[in-house]
Amino acid sequence: MPIRYIPYDKVPVKGQAILNNITRSQRVLSYKDNDKVYERIQRGIPYYELNELESVGEASDNLVIRGECLSTCAYLKEQNIKVDLVYIDPPFASGADYAKKVYIRKNPKLADKIKKAEEKMEMEELVAFEEKMYGDIWSKEDYLNWMYENLMAIKEVMSDTASIYVHLDWHIGHYVKILMDEVFGEENFVNEIIWAYRSGGASKKKSIARKHDSVYFYTNNNESFEINTIKERQYLEKHFIGTQEDENGKIYVDTILTDTLSGVINRVMDNGNIKEYSCRPVLNVSKERVDYSTQKPEGLLELLLEIASNENMIVADFFGGSGVTAKVANDLNRRFIHCDIGINSIQTVRDRLVESKADFKILELQDGLNLFRNPIQTMDKLATLIDGLNRKLSEGINSFWFGTLTNSKYGTMPVYVPDLRDSTKKVLDIVAINEVVNKEIHNFDTCNGEIKKVIVYYIDVVDIDKIKKFIKENNETLIDIELKDLKQVLDFVVVDDKVEFTLNEDGLFYEVKINSFYSDRLKQKIDEYNAKQALKTKGSHITISEDGLELIEYVSLDCTNESGIWQSDSEIKIDKNGFISVNGTKTKEFWNGKISSNTKPKRLKIRNIAGDETIHQIN
Ligand SMILES: C[S@@+](CC[C@H](N)C(=O)[O-])C[C@H]1O[C@@H](n2cnc3c(N)ncnc32)[C@H](O)[C@@H]1O
Repeated sequence: MPIRYIPYDKVPVKGQAILNNITRSQRVLSYKDNDKVYERIQRGIPYYELNELESVGEASDNLVIRGECLSTCAYLKEQNIKVDLVYIDPPFASGADYAKKVYIRKNPKLADKIKKAEEKMEMEELVAFEEKMYGDIWSKEDYLNWMYENLMAIKEVMSDTASIYVHLDWHIGHYVKILMDEVFGEENFVNEIIWAYRSGGASKKKSIARKHDSVYFYTNNNESFEINTIKERQYLEKHFIGTQEDENGKIYVDTILTDTLSGVINRVMDNGNIKEYSCRPVLNVSKERVDYSTQKPEGLLELLLEIASNENMIVADFFGGSGVTAKVANDLNRRFIHCDIGINSIQTVRDRLVESKADFKILELQDGLNLFRNPIQTMDKLATLIDGLNRKLSEGINSFWFGTLTNSKYGTMPVYVPDLRDSTKKVLDIVAINEVVNKEIHNFDTCNGEIKKVIVYYIDVVDIDKIKKFIKENNETLIDIELKDLKQVLDFVVVDDKVEFTLNEDGLFYEVKINSFYSDRLKQKIDEYNAKQALKTKGSHITISEDGLELIEYVSLDCTNESGIWQSDSEIKIDKNGFISVNGTKTKEFWNGKISSNTKPKRLKIRNIAGDETIHQIN
């Protein structure tokens, strides 16, 4: 449950963009007629408890926050932290699920042999399986409701002179532009920046290829807002008016940067030098690639940040993903706030920032979405945890219900589970229960009284007594409504990974040797993978060695704190090819199954290849 709701101070701009003449939509932007959004806006931004998980480098106010955008904004507001620039690249309404590829690492014992024989790693030995990261699962209305609430919350934490970029594409961009007119004011619109690319992009039989994204650029206050003007150098084949030649005889012209960004942008710096920004899709820029779907190129972010921020300003990305914004902000001497709901994002940005030698803190908001690696995986897991749940919905039971349970007393019982992928649906409030009481259970009238009871799971509830009273006063059917706390089911989700290790001391040198590693979560995943592969003619099979060391992605020693905030005094990250980074410095070495430190380690942290972390005390 949120500790409290922090009221919104800002109001949307009145008289803007009412799109309810579109018959398709019950609301789209006329939010004031929409109970759901309006109620939540009235209630405020949910503020949750927070844990500081790790401190990296020197004390710093740079933040990496695991939590959702809304609760992060509540936290910032509560702390009175204002940001100067926001870049967000929220999940598009594309109906896609993005997956993280999970690679089995090289077993250290084999790696040693390989090193001796100076053999090269073979890619097929990597064996990757996929994990769901997050999904774009929205209907337009739901998406816009959700986006509206997020934009309103973001606006709350923007300084008076701040600006915001919202990165979207053809799926929903035009609607969000209108939403932004409403939230930030049409007069505060600066540009629609087109990021054009040659590769990728959908091409369909009935359309020409789609090769650009749109970045909507707004300021909080157009009157006091100024951008950093950027001059672009364009090289040309022939001379035209205003062209010149550089020292190599190449013809060029310096012009003001246009709002179409593509390829490589050559910027003329104040000192006359040329700086290059690669705005190509990151797939072409392999040294940047961190294997995060939807990762955007650093060059694009560099330009956007240089246009709208100055050194020491705070740049925030509330849908941070691979951490490109935080990384670039740090490189450009800005301060940063990175927020994301997925553990894979937090780990990816953490490791990326450690390589950049950045200083930051990692915080975790207890907003209920971090029950598993991410909400999608939590939903999948739930389906297996509710005992006896049948996901196949029988006739007359629509997709509002998550599945059904059956017992001899009540027969079939439809089960409602809030969709954790949509944060706005998480709280059981009067609006949500109203949908059950006054709409959904009435559909069962057609089931000839077969449905006697429905079960409503909740994760957060505004006021359980009020909800019960509402049910009592409003349920006009004979169907019983049982409320159940989802957290009790989720308590069983996490079984910690197990490790056996030995600590060797040699004067001032301490070495932890990992003898074996076992992860129940990964074992289940690998069993699932193998079962699927067994059905294919040429399916591969993953066999894990007895010591299981190839399931480890990262090890770290804390020699400072026995409990609480993690301080990584020594760390090794094993990349998908088996090469290690030691304390953020990449090497061409394979891991030998050990980690050392100069002071006595107090705790050992291990991250498995799917991102689950466990901390073990060293006595
Ligand atoms: C399109 S990706 C961002 C990619 C990023 N710009 C990059 O270059 O790597 C969107 C991200 O939003 C995160 N996300 C989805 N819903 C969220 C929410 N409610 N709050 C915070 N993050 C969320 C997802 O986990 C995902 O990492």
